[in-house]
Formats: sequence, C-alpha cells, structure tokens
Amino acid sequence: MNKIDIHTHILPAELPSFKDKYGYGGFVVLEHHKPDRARMLKDDGQFFREVESNCFDPAVRLAEMDKLGVNVQVLSTVPVMFSYWAKPEHALDLSRFLNDHVASVVASYPKRFVGLGTLPMQDPELAVRELERCVRDLKLAGVQIGSHIKNWNLSDEELFPVFEAAAELGAAIFVHPWDMMGQDRMPKYWLPWLVGMPAEVSLAICSMVFGGVFEKLPKLRVAFAHGGGAYCMTLGRVEHGFLSRPDLCAVDNSVNPRDYCGRFFVDSLVHDPGALKYVIDVLGENSIALGSDYPFPLGEAHPGSMIESMNDLSDQTKDRLLSGSALAWLNKSAADFFPLCHSEQSEESTAT
Ligand code: CO
Repeated sequence: MNKIDIHTHILPAELPSFKDKYGYGGFVVLEHHKPDRARMLKDDGQFFREVESNCFDPAVRLAEMDKLGVNVQVLSTVPVMFSYWAKPEHALDLSRFLNDHVASVVASYPKRFVGLGTLPMQDPELAVRELERCVRDLKLAGVQIGSHIKNWNLSDEELFPVFEAAAELGAAIFVHPWDMMGQDRMPKYWLPWLVGMPAEVSLAICSMVFGGVFEKLPKLRVAFAHGGGAYCMTLGRVEHGFLSRPDLCAVDNSVNPRDYCGRFFVDSLVHDPGALKYVIDVLGENSIALGSDYPFPLGEAHPGSMIESMNDLSDQTKDRLLSGSALAWLNKSAADFFPLCHSEQSEESTAT
C-alpha cells in the first residue's frame, strides 16, 4: 500500500549563526562533529539533541524511505526552530531561510516530498505575508505551527487572520506541540515529551474548537500531531463540561465539541493499536493520517507498521490511514505522487 507520512522533520545541512546575524542569542546551531551526525545546540552551548544525516541529507532520507516503503514524506522543520520568542523581523528572516530550504528539497523530488513552511507567528501580519509566499511562490502545501504562540492559545483573536488566510489560500496546517506547559514541574523522566506533549495538543484542539475557529472557517484543513494527544481520551469530559457549564465553555462557540469530530485531522502516532482504534472510533478513519515523527526516537521506527499489523482494520481503512487521509488534508490527489513514483526515481538516479 502507498504511504504518505505527514509528520517528519528536516533541517538544512548548515545553519548560519543567527546570533551573529541578529545580535542576540537563543537560536539553534548545528555542530557537525562526525561525518554523518550533528549536534543541535543552543548558541549558549546548551545541548538540545543529536541528529543523524537522515535529518539533513535528502539522499539519506530517500534511501531510508525506499527501505521502509514510504512513498512520500511531508517535511516540516524541527519545532525548536520556531523562534516565536525572537524579534518578529528576525523570526521572519529565519522562517524564510528554512522555507526556502524545504522548497528546494521538494523541488528536487516533487513526487517524494511535500513541504510545510514555518511562520513568524508572534507577528500575525508578517506570518500572513510569509504564508502567502510559502503557498504562492514556494508552492508549499501549507505550514506547521506550534500548539501555542507565546502566551496565545490558538483561540486567541490575534491569530485568527493567519487561519483565515490559510483557509483562503487552501494551505494545510500542521499543529505540533512545543514549549510544553508545566515544564518547571517536569525536570525528570522525559515528562515534557510524555505528559506535556499530549496535554499541549489537547489544549490546541480544545482552543480551536471552543474558540470557534473551525466553526468560522469550515474550509480550514488542520492536522494535529500525536493522534490529537489527550483529546480523544478526554472528549467525553470535554463534552460533559460544555453541556454542564455552558457559561464557562460555550462563551465563544455554542456548538457541541463532539460535532467537530471529522472536521480536523490527526496523525496516527499513538504507539498503541487499542488507542489508535479508539481514535478511529471517535474521529472517523477519514480524519487519521500516517505520521511517524521521522527521524526522531519517539517516533514510529517503521512508519505504518502498526496500522498494517492491525488485523481488525479492513484494507480500505488501512489505505485511508496510510495515504487517503493525507491526500485529503493536503488537498492533493493520488496521481500527484503514485503512478510515476518508481519510474521517476530511476530517472533521478540515472541523471545524477
Ligand atoms: Co514531531
């Protein structure tokens, strides 16, 4: 079966010193300490993560995709690069650098990669301008944004123009958790990733549902990472809260949260067949798209293998999860990728 992986991250092989360029620190630098590896450091030297060449070398990615049977990857930056804390004009400049890179990778392998940009969301006006450039000039399919922007949740009215522009431009939005809440209380056990991230994604979905973003923008196509985090498992509670305390919950949107099941997408990255089955029951198979978090260790090492191993899913459902929902979210058709996929690959290898 064809596979489109909607949740993968990429970096350029080299990052300029943004600290030197902008005159203050806090940015990520890439230190190539071995031929096929690099350390992501904050520019004060603080270690963030070690990455392998599959993070920054498209040729290595393509070889691994072939080995893993992944036809298409949707590329987005690593969320630590968002830089929503930086001065807006610098975040714009940094976003443009990353977006140009993603666009160049997609342009080299248009049947294998789809690109998502990143935006200076701390300045929604600049964000809209860069979103327009991403879609119109760079031909990216959409953008990845954080689960919150500084102190703004995704329901905050400052951000609405960005969603409005995305709906008008037909840009897909991927919401990724980052800068997790409560981190000061999670110094051990990798808890920001294990507890904070699922909470962040649920916060993002609840914000967009209760804030009426989906209600006001029915054409907006949004996908949330990690199976929607804690959302599906807590939807009964969310709905009960809405029904029992409308004075608190229905202040911006009077529609039952459950009515939005099927109106947004989530990826499949829950690491548990029972949990994925429940997400399918709650949201519907048309709302779930394969996502692996490639190339990071908390991802699914063999993208799609859990879906393929679930014997109670029909082939039709598996096909929907492995590629159909991704095409719907991206507003693409199977013909954009699959029929020429293998022949183009061989053309590319003979050309180079
Ligand atoms: Co990720």
